[in-house]
Amino acid sequence: MAVSMKGKSLLEIHHFTLEEIYQIFDLSASLKQKRLTGEPHRLLDGKKLGMIFSKPSTRTRVSFEVGIYELGGYGMFFNQNDLQLKKSESISDTAKVLSRYLDGIMIRTFDHQDVVDLAKYGSIPVINGLTDLHHPCQVLTDLFTILEKKRTLKGLKLAYIGDGNNMAHSLLHGCSKVGMNIAIASPSGYKPLDFVVKESQINAKYMGSKIEIFDKPIAAVKNADIIYTDVWASMGQEKEKEERKKKFAGFQVNSKMVKQAKDDYLFMHCLPAHRGDEVTDEICDSQNSVIFDEAENRLHVQKAIMALLM
Ligand code: CP
Ligand code: NVA
Repeated sequence: MAVSMKGKSLLEIHHFTLEEIYQIFDLSASLKQKRLTGEPHRLLDGKKLGMIFSKPSTRTRVSFEVGIYELGGYGMFFNQNDLQLKKSESISDTAKVLSRYLDGIMIRTFDHQDVVDLAKYGSIPVINGLTDLHHPCQVLTDLFTILEKKRTLKGLKLAYIGDGNNMAHSLLHGCSKVGMNIAIASPSGYKPLDFVVKESQINAKYMGSKIEIFDKPIAAVKNADIIYTDVWASMGQEKEKEERKKKFAGFQVNSKMVKQAKDDYLFMHCLPAHRGDEVTDEICDSQNSVIFDEAENRLHVQKAIMALLM
């Protein structure tokens, strides 16, 4: 029997069980198929989703808005400046008010605690559409994409090359949850946060998988099934861009680096990619690259997430 996730918030993958994650994947696959064949799937008929953005977005914004529409619901977009939130009204009051109008909130912001508080004080599910700490919708999509391509997750090795940022954190949580091995290579000073590594190690131990953190990409990429990278300067770190370019020299995913991986490795990137920095055009556009499948799957997986939580 499927477990009910109704009413639950998605703040980070760590809060979800393996069973819940596979339930999201199963529904994602079924909704993807229904969309392909044109079969109606109005699982959220008449439901309202508020979408709050304090950072720019292409994929998250468009896929959530299209997603709620295809499920029969209605999405309302708010730039953070449109709301009283954190200017003349507290997060707790905002959460209580929005809970009286809406059936769910998707939020993209800086401070992860703001999203935690929104969920804590409101009475409707909150979906994290990216914070400085985590990007769970992206990683659930990435794992679903890997499952589609490789037919399995357990035992695969994902090499993440670059900044120990929100993507690295959610990949640590996600890979360790499903029993994938993850090897991260980041320059010193840019490693993932210790507490996220520790949380992930608990999952890895339970699943019998491995977490490795390296200073250099070469060891991480060796025999990898998946090579993943992300921008060196995330949203909000624009001023550090030039400094980071210097620090991340040698961390570009290019044709020389990928030779260490398995021949049938997948190249993945959450996008947007800064081509020429963390990855070359050649790798982005290669046969091994699945970046646009990943982007498409955001739609299917988030529809499943909304349908199960709302
Ligand atoms: N990957 C991702 O979240 O893309 P956007 O910033 O365009 O939403
Ligand atoms: N690490 C990037 C991810 C973008 C989807 C950022 O936070 O800007």
